[in-house]
Amino acid sequence: MKQQLENIKTQAVKEIAEAASMQILESIRVKYLGKKGELTLVLRGMGSLSAEERPLIGQLANDVRVFIEQKLEEKEQTISKKERDERINRETVDITMPGKKKEIGHKHPITLVLDEIKEVFLGMGYEIAEGPDIEDTYYNFDALNTPETHPARDLQDTFYINEKIILRTQTSPVQIRTMMQKKPPIKIICPGRVFRSDTVDPTHSPIFHQIEGLVVDKGITMGNLKGTLEMFVKALFGESTRIRLRPHHFPYTEPSAEVDISCFACGGVGCRVCKGEGWIEILGAGMVHPKVLQTCGIDPEVYSGFAFGIGAERVAMGRFKIDDLRLLFENDVRFLKQF
Ligand code: DAH
Repeated sequence: MKQQLENIKTQAVKEIAEAASMQILESIRVKYLGKKGELTLVLRGMGSLSAEERPLIGQLANDVRVFIEQKLEEKEQTISKKERDERINRETVDITMPGKKKEIGHKHPITLVLDEIKEVFLGMGYEIAEGPDIEDTYYNFDALNTPETHPARDLQDTFYINEKIILRTQTSPVQIRTMMQKKPPIKIICPGRVFRSDTVDPTHSPIFHQIEGLVVDKGITMGNLKGTLEMFVKALFGESTRIRLRPHHFPYTEPSAEVDISCFACGGVGCRVCKGEGWIEILGAGMVHPKVLQTCGIDPEVYSGFAFGIGAERVAMGRFKIDDLRLLFENDVRFLKQF
């Protein structure tokens, strides 16, 4: 039995020395000193010993227990110190380390251009109006003097949600919504997204942006329109920029014009960007058709107005010298970073 106790002691000491964690130490404690532990089992067998042997073995067993407990205690302290040191090391904040840099984005070139255009018109006393992207055909076409049978309706490749509801093909419906809500004088711009079922190419995208403009008051003339547009292009493209009005047709204006600016790349001499023309078309405009005013409850005998619709992508391409419209929608960070 004495030998047995010696063995237990040697074995326990060895295991304790090898233990690497608190859990392992605990399992060693249970293994040797627990209720069903090896030392306890030996003590239970003492009944078979002689009266002389019993106190000696009892003493020895007790010594072994105290010894193991002591070893466990020592090891516990070493491990807990080690664990604490490790944690402190792990959690140390090295204030000399370089900080993590947060990448802050910036505005998309289209947003930049819309902001610039808004700024110019706000400066001229315009208010900003808004309308829904999902629009009623009544506002997008009918009220704009474009009834079902009107040929212009074919020209606008429309995304239909159902027969009455579409994705707006232009920001012009906001003219109607505005005139139906408030009486002249009216002076608004409406920047927004428009949709057409166009195939993507360097100058077309099924989603693009327009800035609609509408001015209605007594005595508004084509001269006011031309002066306004001149102010606008000079503010955006520089003082030397000229404009040219070409007769055109829009159902909701009479007369109507397409408006070109002298090429921002060559100044009007003719180059690759303007395809040798010297001019680049950026907007449609005209005097609000009397029928449209009437539809909105405004007397065309008393009031007149002008309207225009600017293509934001065209402006962005000119402003930032971008030669392919698709770049604006691909969201390639290498491209977007440049603005
Ligand atoms: N809505 C036209 C388009 O999408 C642009 C336009 C032309 C707007 C003439 C107008 C306007 O307000 O008077 O092509």
